Amino acid sequence: EDEDLPKGLRQLKLPPDKTSNSNKILQFQRNRTTRIKLDRKSLNFTPSCEFTGREAVSAVTRAQSQVCKQRIVNVTCLNQQGLLYPERIQSLCPHSPGFIDKPVSLGCFKDDKTLRILSGYYHVFKGNNSPERCTFLCLQSGYLYAGTEYSVECFCGMEKPSQLKRLPDSSCNMKCSGNPKYSCGGYLTINVFWTGIQKFKAQEARNTSIDGENEKPARIAYLLTVNGRASRQVKRLINILYHPSHLFYIHVDARQDYLYREMLEVEKSCKTSNIKVARGENLRHASIWGGASLLTTLLKSAQQMLAHHHHWDFLVNLSESDFPIKNNAQLTQFLSLNKGMNFVKSHGREVQRFITKQGLDKTFVECETRMWRIGDRKLPDGIQIDGGSDWVALSRDFVEYVANTNPDTLVTDLLKVFKYTLLPAESFFHTVLRNSKFCNTYIDNNLHVTNWKRKLGCKCQYKAVVDWCGCSPNDFKLEDFSRIRNTIDRNLFFARKFESIIDQRIIDRVEEWLYSENLNKTVNAKGYDAYWQSLYHAADLSPLTDDAQLTVSNSLARLIFHKLNVNYKDVRLLETTAYFKQNQFVGILILAEVTLQQQTVQQKRIESLVYPRHNFSTSREWLGKIQSLSVNTDYDQKEKTFRNLIGSIGPYSYPVLSYEFDTGITTPQNLSILWVDPYGRLAEVNYIQLEEMTLTGYVKPQFNEHLVVGTWHLFLVADSLLVAKMNFLVTPLAYWKNKKIDPERAKEVNNASVDSYHITEEMNKKWSHLLNSVNFYERTTHMTDNEIKINSNLDQWIDKLVQKHYEIDKICNVNDTELKLQKCINTYWSSLSPDTKADINNLC
Ligand code: UDX
Repeated sequence: EDEDLPKGLRQLKLPPDKTSNSNKILQFQRNRTTRIKLDRKSLNFTPSCEFTGREAVSAVTRAQSQVCKQRIVNVTCLNQQGLLYPERIQSLCPHSPGFIDKPVSLGCFKDDKTLRILSGYYHVFKGNNSPERCTFLCLQSGYLYAGTEYSVECFCGMEKPSQLKRLPDSSCNMKCSGNPKYSCGGYLTINVFWTGIQKFKAQEARNTSIDGENEKPARIAYLLTVNGRASRQVKRLINILYHPSHLFYIHVDARQDYLYREMLEVEKSCKTSNIKVARGENLRHASIWGGASLLTTLLKSAQQMLAHHHHWDFLVNLSESDFPIKNNAQLTQFLSLNKGMNFVKSHGREVQRFITKQGLDKTFVECETRMWRIGDRKLPDGIQIDGGSDWVALSRDFVEYVANTNPDTLVTDLLKVFKYTLLPAESFFHTVLRNSKFCNTYIDNNLHVTNWKRKLGCKCQYKAVVDWCGCSPNDFKLEDFSRIRNTIDRNLFFARKFESIIDQRIIDRVEEWLYSENLNKTVNAKGYDAYWQSLYHAADLSPLTDDAQLTVSNSLARLIFHKLNVNYKDVRLLETTAYFKQNQFVGILILAEVTLQQQTVQQKRIESLVYPRHNFSTSREWLGKIQSLSVNTDYDQKEKTFRNLIGSIGPYSYPVLSYEFDTGITTPQNLSILWVDPYGRLAEVNYIQLEEMTLTGYVKPQFNEHLVVGTWHLFLVADSLLVAKMNFLVTPLAYWKNKKIDPERAKEVNNASVDSYHITEEMNKKWSHLLNSVNFYERTTHMTDNEIKINSNLDQWIDKLVQKHYEIDKICNVNDTELKLQKCINTYWSSLSPDTKADINNLC
């Protein structure tokens, strides 16, 4: 389960025709095989070849910019002409996938003293056309030590590794008869590690085989590739990993202004200069999921890390969602004993199957921060393709080789292949390792435990950025702790994924376990059971904030000052933050200021804790039967939660209803869900059948693209009885692309009136009784009122609506003495209150 198997799941069917709507996620239509032709008129250049490939044409058609279109065309043409990839690459590995005539002992040492690490990935063939049995003598003549990890897979097939067919029998004593053309072969991977449980042996060997430079504890260079806004979690990660002998090189996705600024602060706080943040266009990339740019990022970062004066022995890459599961001393000890080795995790499948699942036999082009699939390709002969996980621990020697600015032919040729590869970081290092002179240093272990739950994690969730269905691991939760603890005797040092907004308690638990000697200090530290995650910062230019979120945040800022009776004119929203306590989402923090011009210019800055109201009620019979019911956007099917923490829904949002019913409910139970717009019109009806196993789930209503603004209503009906109702706000927008909306646009956006919904007369009739019984506020006001609101009183209108859906609870004072409020720094909830676990001030 913890194996880092390929991320690629299956290929997406591409849309057959032009998708002009650039703002929307592309709808990948399945089962349509219409041939598509390239519309040459849409190009402002002449393609250098004639091309008709369905995938390439689809990509050119969907791409927006001419630059991107041209890139796709050029790469396609080069591929068609056979000029894009080398046909053959010479492997430099002495044990390259050759056909060793004799079974070899695979380097199993008999002598304790010389035991270090044995590793390898060997094809052993007993000669062509031989129907003999495969026998790996290693397992018989050599002997393996306690703690040894080994796995053997046997194959029968043609001689080329890619054509080997895996047999169901994975023991290594099998018959390969039948087809005389077939030879018998197999892969054997042996890793022998020294671990804590083998202290005795390790100690013994240490005396005899480790000397000089090798005796020094290994120094680690962490390459952190980070994305998103979880800056406090990244700081916590740095805090727990920090040691003066390690180097930290941080790459922040080029689009993430907030996280970048936060990481610059971390760098600044560390006077010892062993924390470095990648800067500038050349070193920062928009490293999209699965993109070729992630490999570029890793290689460029590695070059910078090699050039850094801080010497290191291993490069370990981690992301914002990784966390250690062994302490620093254990990791250092392990790596010290294994200097020169390279830790990568292989897919553990038949190679051809891996290639297909991963899309390695397809050409992808990255532009417009998307990986476009443009067609099939033939991988070069002569090398062994390998891959698995892109979380690695590489020796300095190997990094010097693979990231060299003047690489040898093997690396140059492989770079040509991996420049056009989906998820290249998952195969590039493996493939170079296998085929280079470093092949004997290959250890099939990436030191990671990964929380794969493929039913949840393979939902094609990256189709907005890649022409492929990819998978992601799930976040660990507190209930998974035993799984982590069970790795105690294994050479696993990191786990992924962790997200504080999903479950911070598991991170706490792991930290308490790793550093139990600090337990008292840790758990009593200020802010320990709280978590803050930024949603918006006024200094952000990229990525654009959702306009509905910006509208609601600004409205709340005004409402807070209004509540304080501060006579304000210009309220400035500074930050919006999500606040969690005891592993639960609590509410939204709004940090804002006003400038008052009385006798002197005064700035008042405050922060407030705001709760979204759950305007939800159930009938008496159904009390306690519904655990949760919420309408929101950005539903994450993998973690089964909404990512939109402020809960703002705008006219262009796609609302989703998520539900959780109590296990005590009588099943099966049929429910109708009625979506009613602010004017009391039935907009959509969904049906769900509750079964014992489906008490939690979500429903996506099919609405028109443009939602009517105002308070919407949702009714839950069981057996013609109204059992629950709730309402939610579709907020008018005060911002458009993050700028104050102009009246023309506001009219178009906020004044939508839908002629009709996809509701039949019959349905309307069926539910009219229920709808008529509810009094809708907006129904009584005339549409034209909205025009007045839009032109002159947009903010007041929004504030009135927002007030009904959010509750301002606490307010604290940042810098003012006149306001009789608690100081933010002294509260337990303010984003300015102490948070020891993410405090990096005394780090270096
Ligand atoms: C899975 C695999 O575990 C991983 O090996 C593979 O690279 C991607 O698929 P997943 O959880 O889906 O991981 O990806 P995630 O951890 O979110 O992203 C992978 C890396 O790319 C991280 O370092 C992340 O910071 C970075 N990334 C992701 C960006 O820099 N920008 C993005 O937009 C998305």
